[in-house]
Amino acid sequence: MSASPFILLISGDGIGKEVIAEAEKIIHWLNDHHKTGIHTDTALLGGVAYDATGTPFPKETLEKAQKADAILLGAVGGPKWEALDYSVRPERGLLGIRKELGLFANLRPALCFDALADASTLKREVIAGLDILIVRELTGGLYFGEPKGVETLPNGEKRGFNTLTYTSSEIQRVGRVAFELAQKRGKKLCSIDKANVLESTELWRQEMIALSKDYPDVALSHMYVDNAAMQLVRNPRQFDVIVTENMFGDILSDCAAMLTGSLGMLPSASLGTKGKDGRQPALYEPVHGSAPDIAGQNKANPIATILSLAMLLRYSLDRGDLADLIEKAVTQTLADGYRTGDIMQPGMKQVSTTEMGDALVKAMNDQKQKGKAA
Ligand code: IPM
Ligand code: MG
Repeated sequence: MSASPFILLISGDGIGKEVIAEAEKIIHWLNDHHKTGIHTDTALLGGVAYDATGTPFPKETLEKAQKADAILLGAVGGPKWEALDYSVRPERGLLGIRKELGLFANLRPALCFDALADASTLKREVIAGLDILIVRELTGGLYFGEPKGVETLPNGEKRGFNTLTYTSSEIQRVGRVAFELAQKRGKKLCSIDKANVLESTELWRQEMIALSKDYPDVALSHMYVDNAAMQLVRNPRQFDVIVTENMFGDILSDCAAMLTGSLGMLPSASLGTKGKDGRQPALYEPVHGSAPDIAGQNKANPIATILSLAMLLRYSLDRGDLADLIEKAVTQTLADGYRTGDIMQPGMKQVSTTEMGDALVKAMNDQKQKGKAA
Protein backbone atom coordinates (compact mmCIF):
# COMPACT_ATOMS: atom_id res chain seq x y z
CA MET A 1 0.00 0.00 0.00
CA SER A 2 1.34 3.45 -0.90
CA ALA A 3 2.15 5.78 2.01
CA SER A 4 -0.76 7.97 1.11
CA PRO A 5 -3.39 6.08 -0.87
CA PHE A 6 -5.97 8.17 -2.70
CA ILE A 7 -9.62 7.16 -2.44
CA LEU A 8 -12.10 9.01 -4.60
CA LEU A 9 -15.48 9.32 -2.88
CA ILE A 10 -18.48 9.53 -5.21
CA SER A 11 -21.70 9.90 -3.23
CA GLY A 12 -24.06 10.07 -6.19
CA ASP A 13 -27.78 10.40 -5.53
CA GLY A 14 -30.39 9.63 -2.90
CA ILE A 15 -29.02 7.84 0.17
CA GLY A 16 -25.55 7.78 -1.45
CA LYS A 17 -24.48 10.91 0.42
CA GLU A 18 -25.60 9.55 3.77
CA VAL A 19 -23.94 6.15 3.48
CA ILE A 20 -20.66 7.56 2.13
CA ALA A 21 -20.54 9.98 5.09
CA GLU A 22 -20.53 6.97 7.46
CA ALA A 23 -17.76 5.26 5.49
CA GLU A 24 -15.76 8.48 5.85
CA LYS A 25 -16.00 8.14 9.63
CA ILE A 26 -14.32 4.75 9.32
CA ILE A 27 -11.61 6.18 7.02
CA HIS A 28 -10.86 8.88 9.61
CA TRP A 29 -10.70 6.25 12.32
CA LEU A 30 -8.25 4.16 10.27
CA ASN A 31 -6.06 7.20 9.64
CA ASP A 32 -6.09 8.08 13.35
CA HIS A 33 -5.53 4.58 14.70
CA HIS A 34 -3.64 2.72 11.98
CA LYS A 35 -1.65 5.48 10.24
CA THR A 36 -3.21 4.52 6.92
CA GLY A 37 -2.59 8.03 5.55
CA ILE A 38 -5.61 7.73 3.25
CA HIS A 39 -6.50 10.95 1.51
CA THR A 40 -9.79 11.52 -0.23
CA ASP A 41 -11.40 13.77 -2.77
CA THR A 42 -14.97 13.89 -4.05
CA ALA A 43 -16.52 13.85 -7.52
CA LEU A 44 -19.97 14.02 -9.08
CA LEU A 45 -21.75 11.16 -10.84
CA GLY A 46 -25.36 10.43 -11.74
CA GLY A 47 -28.30 12.77 -11.26
CA VAL A 48 -26.42 15.30 -9.12
CA ALA A 49 -23.75 15.48 -11.84
CA TYR A 50 -26.40 15.99 -14.51
CA ASP A 51 -27.98 18.81 -12.49
CA ALA A 52 -24.63 20.54 -11.96
CA THR A 53 -22.97 19.98 -15.34
CA GLY A 54 -25.55 18.66 -17.84
CA THR A 55 -23.95 15.21 -18.00
CA PRO A 56 -24.20 12.26 -15.57
CA PHE A 57 -20.49 11.49 -16.04
CA PRO A 58 -18.42 14.72 -16.18
CA LYS A 59 -14.91 14.67 -17.61
CA GLU A 60 -13.53 15.90 -14.30
CA THR A 61 -14.92 12.80 -12.58
CA LEU A 62 -13.20 10.52 -15.10
CA GLU A 63 -9.90 12.37 -14.65
CA LYS A 64 -10.03 12.07 -10.87
CA ALA A 65 -11.13 8.41 -11.15
CA GLN A 66 -8.12 7.61 -13.32
CA LYS A 67 -5.77 9.02 -10.69
CA ALA A 68 -7.40 7.29 -7.71
CA ASP A 69 -6.02 4.13 -6.10
CA ALA A 70 -9.65 3.14 -5.61
CA ILE A 71 -13.13 4.61 -5.82
CA LEU A 72 -15.88 4.30 -3.23
CA LEU A 73 -19.32 4.98 -4.66
CA GLY A 74 -22.73 5.47 -3.00
CA ALA A 75 -25.57 5.05 -5.50
CA VAL A 76 -27.05 6.79 -8.52
CA GLY A 77 -30.54 7.43 -9.88
CA GLY A 78 -33.93 8.59 -8.72
CA PRO A 79 -37.41 9.51 -9.95
CA LYS A 80 -36.34 13.11 -10.58
CA TRP A 81 -34.30 12.01 -13.60
CA GLU A 82 -36.47 9.19 -14.93
CA ALA A 83 -38.04 11.27 -17.70
CA LEU A 84 -34.63 12.22 -19.15
CA ASP A 85 -33.31 10.76 -22.37
CA TYR A 86 -31.39 7.49 -21.83
CA SER A 87 -28.14 9.13 -22.89
CA VAL A 88 -28.11 11.44 -19.85
CA ARG A 89 -29.83 9.31 -17.22
CA PRO A 90 -27.92 8.88 -13.93
CA GLU A 91 -27.45 5.14 -14.67
CA ARG A 92 -25.46 6.11 -17.78
CA GLY A 93 -22.96 7.74 -15.46
CA LEU A 94 -22.46 4.47 -13.60
CA LEU A 95 -22.27 2.40 -16.77
CA GLY A 96 -19.90 5.00 -18.22
CA ILE A 97 -17.42 4.88 -15.36
CA ARG A 98 -17.48 1.05 -15.38
CA LYS A 99 -16.78 1.01 -19.12
CA GLU A 100 -14.17 3.80 -19.17
CA LEU A 101 -12.15 2.20 -16.38
CA GLY A 102 -12.59 -1.27 -17.88
CA LEU A 103 -14.13 -2.69 -14.69
CA PHE A 104 -15.11 -6.03 -16.17
CA ALA A 105 -15.18 -8.19 -13.04
CA ASN A 106 -17.84 -7.41 -10.47
CA LEU A 107 -17.49 -9.31 -7.20
CA ARG A 108 -20.67 -9.52 -5.13
CA PRO A 109 -20.33 -11.59 -1.98
CA ALA A 110 -23.51 -12.65 -0.19
CA LEU A 111 -22.66 -13.49 3.36
CA CYS A 112 -25.23 -14.16 6.04
CA PHE A 113 -24.31 -12.66 9.41
CA ASP A 114 -25.59 -15.01 12.06
CA ALA A 115 -27.34 -12.20 13.95
CA LEU A 116 -29.41 -11.52 10.83
CA ALA A 117 -30.34 -15.08 9.93
CA ASP A 118 -33.85 -14.41 11.21
CA ALA A 119 -34.18 -11.11 9.30
CA SER A 120 -34.14 -12.96 5.98
CA THR A 121 -37.44 -13.80 4.33
CA LEU A 122 -36.10 -17.37 4.09
CA LYS A 123 -35.90 -19.79 6.99
CA ARG A 124 -32.80 -19.69 9.20
CA GLU A 125 -31.88 -23.29 8.39
CA VAL A 126 -31.72 -22.43 4.68
CA ILE A 127 -29.44 -19.40 4.96
CA ALA A 128 -27.44 -19.69 8.22
CA GLY A 129 -23.75 -19.69 7.39
CA LEU A 130 -24.36 -18.67 3.79
CA ASP A 131 -21.19 -17.51 1.99
CA ILE A 132 -21.52 -17.12 -1.77
CA LEU A 133 -19.47 -15.03 -4.15
CA ILE A 134 -21.10 -13.91 -7.38
CA VAL A 135 -18.71 -12.82 -10.11
CA ARG A 136 -20.72 -10.77 -12.59
CA GLU A 137 -19.29 -9.73 -15.96
CA LEU A 138 -19.74 -5.96 -15.97
CA THR A 139 -18.73 -4.33 -19.24
CA GLY A 140 -20.28 -6.55 -21.90
CA GLY A 141 -23.42 -8.50 -22.72
CA LEU A 142 -26.86 -6.98 -23.11
CA TYR A 143 -25.91 -3.78 -21.30
CA PHE A 144 -23.41 -2.68 -23.90
CA GLY A 145 -24.05 -4.85 -26.98
CA GLU A 146 -24.58 -3.16 -30.34
CA PRO A 147 -26.85 -2.65 -32.17
CA LYS A 148 -29.33 -1.27 -29.68
CA GLY A 149 -32.10 1.26 -29.75
CA VAL A 150 -35.71 1.89 -30.66
CA GLU A 151 -36.62 2.29 -34.33
CA THR A 152 -39.83 3.00 -36.20
CA LEU A 153 -40.74 0.39 -38.79
CA PRO A 154 -42.20 1.30 -42.23
CA ASN A 155 -45.67 0.37 -40.95
CA GLY A 156 -45.29 2.93 -38.14
CA GLU A 157 -44.84 0.32 -35.42
CA LYS A 158 -41.91 0.75 -33.06
CA ARG A 159 -39.25 -1.89 -32.46
CA GLY A 160 -36.88 -1.92 -29.48
CA PHE A 161 -33.73 -4.04 -29.53
CA ASN A 162 -30.60 -4.84 -27.52
CA THR A 163 -27.86 -7.31 -28.34
CA LEU A 164 -26.43 -10.01 -26.09
CA THR A 165 -22.88 -10.34 -27.34
CA TYR A 166 -19.66 -11.75 -25.89
CA THR A 167 -16.27 -12.39 -27.43
CA SER A 168 -14.10 -15.30 -26.29
CA SER A 169 -11.60 -12.96 -24.64
CA GLU A 170 -14.32 -11.13 -22.71
CA ILE A 171 -15.54 -14.45 -21.35
CA GLN A 172 -12.06 -15.76 -20.61
CA ARG A 173 -10.86 -12.74 -18.61
CA VAL A 174 -13.83 -12.79 -16.25
CA GLY A 175 -13.69 -16.59 -16.15
CA ARG A 176 -10.08 -16.49 -14.97
CA VAL A 177 -10.97 -14.06 -12.17
CA ALA A 178 -13.72 -16.42 -11.04
CA PHE A 179 -11.55 -19.56 -11.20
CA GLU A 180 -8.78 -17.83 -9.23
CA LEU A 181 -11.22 -16.68 -6.56
CA ALA A 182 -12.68 -20.19 -6.35
CA GLN A 183 -9.17 -21.56 -5.81
CA LYS A 184 -8.86 -19.32 -2.73
CA ARG A 185 -12.30 -20.33 -1.39
CA GLY A 186 -14.27 -23.58 -1.55
CA LYS A 187 -12.88 -24.64 -4.98
CA LYS A 188 -16.34 -24.83 -6.53
CA LEU A 189 -17.37 -22.69 -9.50
CA CYS A 190 -20.85 -22.65 -10.99
CA SER A 191 -21.13 -20.96 -14.38
CA ILE A 192 -24.62 -19.70 -15.11
CA ASP A 193 -25.92 -19.37 -18.66
CA LYS A 194 -28.93 -20.02 -20.87
CA ALA A 195 -27.05 -22.25 -23.27
CA ASN A 196 -30.23 -24.16 -24.16
CA VAL A 197 -31.60 -21.06 -25.89
CA LEU A 198 -28.98 -18.34 -26.39
CA GLU A 199 -26.00 -18.92 -28.70
CA SER A 200 -23.83 -16.28 -27.02
CA THR A 201 -24.17 -18.09 -23.71
CA GLU A 202 -23.43 -21.41 -25.38
CA LEU A 203 -20.08 -19.86 -26.27
CA TRP A 204 -19.86 -18.72 -22.65
CA ARG A 205 -20.22 -22.34 -21.52
CA GLN A 206 -17.66 -23.66 -24.01
CA GLU A 207 -15.10 -21.05 -22.92
CA MET A 208 -15.62 -21.91 -19.25
CA ILE A 209 -15.08 -25.60 -20.00
CA ALA A 210 -11.91 -24.80 -21.95
CA LEU A 211 -10.60 -22.62 -19.10
CA SER A 212 -11.26 -25.29 -16.50
CA LYS A 213 -8.29 -27.28 -17.85
CA ASP A 214 -6.02 -24.62 -16.34
CA TYR A 215 -7.70 -24.97 -12.94
CA PRO A 216 -7.88 -28.70 -12.25
CA ASP A 217 -8.36 -28.08 -8.52
CA VAL A 218 -11.66 -26.23 -9.10
CA ALA A 219 -14.85 -28.23 -9.67
CA LEU A 220 -16.73 -26.48 -12.49
CA SER A 221 -20.47 -26.94 -12.89
CA HIS A 222 -23.07 -25.28 -15.14
CA MET A 223 -26.62 -24.18 -14.53
CA TYR A 224 -29.29 -22.48 -16.60
CA VAL A 225 -30.19 -19.08 -15.22
CA ASP A 226 -33.85 -19.91 -14.51
CA ASN A 227 -32.84 -22.97 -12.51
CA ALA A 228 -30.16 -20.91 -10.74
CA ALA A 229 -32.78 -18.37 -9.59
CA MET A 230 -34.80 -21.23 -8.17
CA GLN A 231 -31.78 -22.96 -6.56
CA LEU A 232 -30.70 -19.67 -4.94
CA VAL A 233 -33.88 -19.54 -2.89
CA ARG A 234 -34.25 -23.31 -2.49
CA ASN A 235 -30.78 -24.24 -1.32
CA PRO A 236 -28.33 -21.32 -1.63
CA ARG A 237 -25.55 -23.02 0.33
CA GLN A 238 -24.90 -25.42 -2.57
CA PHE A 239 -23.02 -22.50 -4.21
CA ASP A 240 -19.48 -21.31 -3.57
CA VAL A 241 -18.45 -19.05 -6.48
CA ILE A 242 -20.88 -18.19 -9.28
CA VAL A 243 -19.77 -16.64 -12.58
CA THR A 244 -22.23 -15.20 -15.03
CA GLU A 245 -22.89 -12.59 -17.70
CA ASN A 246 -23.84 -8.99 -16.95
CA MET A 247 -27.65 -9.08 -16.98
CA PHE A 248 -28.03 -12.49 -15.31
CA GLY A 249 -25.58 -11.29 -12.64
CA ASP A 250 -27.55 -8.10 -12.07
CA ILE A 251 -30.71 -10.06 -11.37
CA LEU A 252 -29.23 -12.97 -9.42
CA SER A 253 -27.15 -10.70 -7.18
CA ASP A 254 -30.24 -8.80 -5.99
CA CYS A 255 -31.81 -12.15 -5.23
CA ALA A 256 -28.69 -13.36 -3.39
CA ALA A 257 -28.52 -10.10 -1.44
CA MET A 258 -31.99 -10.60 -0.06
CA LEU A 259 -31.00 -14.03 1.25
CA THR A 260 -28.70 -12.24 3.67
CA GLY A 261 -31.53 -10.30 5.29
CA SER A 262 -31.38 -7.04 3.41
CA LEU A 263 -30.04 -5.42 0.28
CA GLY A 264 -28.54 -2.92 2.73
CA MET A 265 -25.89 -5.48 3.71
CA LEU A 266 -24.27 -6.38 0.41
CA PRO A 267 -21.00 -4.81 -0.78
CA SER A 268 -19.34 -5.13 -4.17
CA ALA A 269 -16.04 -4.64 -5.92
CA SER A 270 -15.58 -3.93 -9.62
CA LEU A 271 -12.09 -4.63 -10.88
CA GLY A 272 -10.25 -3.95 -14.11
CA THR A 273 -7.01 -5.16 -15.64
CA LYS A 274 -3.75 -4.53 -13.81
CA GLY A 275 -1.61 -2.00 -15.69
CA LYS A 276 2.14 -2.30 -16.31
CA ASP A 277 2.69 -0.14 -13.21
CA GLY A 278 0.85 -2.77 -11.14
CA ARG A 279 -2.14 -0.51 -10.57
CA GLN A 280 -5.58 -2.04 -10.96
CA PRO A 281 -8.60 0.19 -11.58
CA ALA A 282 -11.18 -0.59 -8.89
CA LEU A 283 -14.52 0.73 -7.80
CA TYR A 284 -16.38 -0.35 -4.67
CA GLU A 285 -20.08 0.20 -4.10
CA PRO A 286 -23.04 -1.20 -2.21
CA VAL A 287 -25.33 -3.40 -4.31
CA HIS A 288 -28.38 -1.42 -3.20
CA GLY A 289 -29.64 1.59 -5.13
CA SER A 290 -30.26 5.21 -4.19
CA ALA A 291 -33.50 4.42 -2.28
CA PRO A 292 -35.24 7.73 -3.03
CA ASP A 293 -38.12 6.78 -0.71
CA ILE A 294 -35.92 7.12 2.37
CA ALA A 295 -33.27 9.56 1.08
CA GLY A 296 -32.42 12.48 3.36
CA GLN A 297 -34.16 10.89 6.35
CA ASN A 298 -31.16 9.40 8.14
CA LYS A 299 -32.72 5.93 7.83
CA ALA A 300 -30.47 4.16 5.31
CA ASN A 301 -28.30 1.21 6.29
CA PRO A 302 -24.63 2.21 5.82
CA ILE A 303 -23.29 -1.34 6.33
CA ALA A 304 -23.13 -2.34 2.64
CA THR A 305 -21.02 0.75 1.94
CA ILE A 306 -18.78 0.16 4.93
CA LEU A 307 -18.32 -3.48 3.89
CA SER A 308 -17.45 -2.14 0.42
CA LEU A 309 -14.75 -0.07 2.10
CA ALA A 310 -13.51 -3.29 3.71
CA MET A 311 -13.28 -4.89 0.25
CA LEU A 312 -11.38 -1.82 -0.94
CA LEU A 313 -8.85 -2.20 1.84
CA ARG A 314 -8.46 -5.92 1.06
CA TYR A 315 -8.23 -5.82 -2.74
CA SER A 316 -6.84 -2.37 -3.58
CA LEU A 317 -4.73 -1.43 -0.55
CA ASP A 318 -3.60 -4.93 0.43
CA ARG A 319 -4.81 -4.36 3.99
CA GLY A 320 -6.79 -7.53 4.62
CA ASP A 321 -6.06 -7.05 8.33
CA LEU A 322 -8.05 -3.80 8.39
CA ALA A 323 -10.81 -5.35 6.26
CA ASP A 324 -11.06 -8.12 8.88
CA LEU A 325 -11.32 -5.48 11.59
CA ILE A 326 -14.24 -3.76 9.85
CA GLU A 327 -16.01 -7.07 9.24
CA LYS A 328 -15.58 -8.04 12.89
CA ALA A 329 -16.94 -4.64 13.94
CA VAL A 330 -20.03 -5.24 11.78
CA THR A 331 -20.52 -8.69 13.32
CA GLN A 332 -20.19 -7.27 16.82
CA THR A 333 -22.52 -4.32 16.18
CA LEU A 334 -25.20 -6.65 14.86
CA ALA A 335 -24.67 -9.06 17.77
CA ASP A 336 -25.08 -6.08 20.13
CA GLY A 337 -28.55 -5.58 18.68
CA TYR A 338 -28.10 -2.41 16.59
CA ARG A 339 -30.41 -2.40 13.56
CA THR A 340 -31.37 0.11 10.91
CA GLY A 341 -35.01 -0.05 9.80
CA ASP A 342 -34.39 -2.44 6.90
CA ILE A 343 -33.02 -5.16 9.19
CA MET A 344 -35.08 -4.34 12.29
CA GLN A 345 -36.25 -7.33 14.32
CA PRO A 346 -38.34 -7.53 17.50
CA GLY A 347 -36.36 -6.74 20.65
CA MET A 348 -33.49 -5.00 18.81
CA LYS A 349 -32.37 -1.36 19.01
CA GLN A 350 -33.49 0.60 15.96
CA VAL A 351 -30.91 3.21 15.00
CA SER A 352 -30.44 5.86 12.33
CA THR A 353 -27.76 5.91 9.63
CA THR A 354 -25.47 8.14 11.68
CA GLU A 355 -26.04 6.13 14.87
CA MET A 356 -25.14 2.93 13.02
CA GLY A 357 -21.94 4.60 11.79
CA ASP A 358 -21.09 5.67 15.35
CA ALA A 359 -21.83 2.19 16.70
CA LEU A 360 -19.44 0.74 14.11
CA VAL A 361 -16.69 3.18 15.05
CA LYS A 362 -17.20 2.22 18.68
CA ALA A 363 -16.99 -1.45 17.74
CA MET A 364 -13.73 -0.74 15.87
CA ASN A 365 -12.35 0.74 19.07
CA ASP A 366 -13.51 -2.32 21.03
CA GLN A 367 -11.88 -4.65 18.49
CA LYS A 368 -8.65 -2.70 18.82
CA GLN A 369 -8.74 -3.01 22.62
CA LYS A 370 -9.44 -6.73 22.32
CA GLY A 371 -6.52 -7.06 19.90
CA LYS A 372 -4.24 -5.36 22.46
CA ALA A 373 -5.47 -7.59 25.29
CA ALA A 374 -4.95 -10.76 23.23
C1 IPM B 1 -26.39 -2.60 -10.14
C2 IPM B 1 -27.46 -1.64 -10.60
C3 IPM B 1 -27.02 -1.03 -11.93
C4 IPM B 1 -26.91 -2.15 -12.93
C5 IPM B 1 -27.91 0.10 -12.45
C6 IPM B 1 -28.11 1.20 -11.44
C7 IPM B 1 -27.39 0.66 -13.74
O1 IPM B 1 -28.69 -2.27 -10.68
O2 IPM B 1 -25.25 -2.17 -9.95
O3 IPM B 1 -26.70 -3.78 -9.97
O4 IPM B 1 -27.92 -2.55 -13.54
O5 IPM B 1 -25.80 -2.66 -13.11
MG1 MG C 1 -28.67 -4.28 -9.96
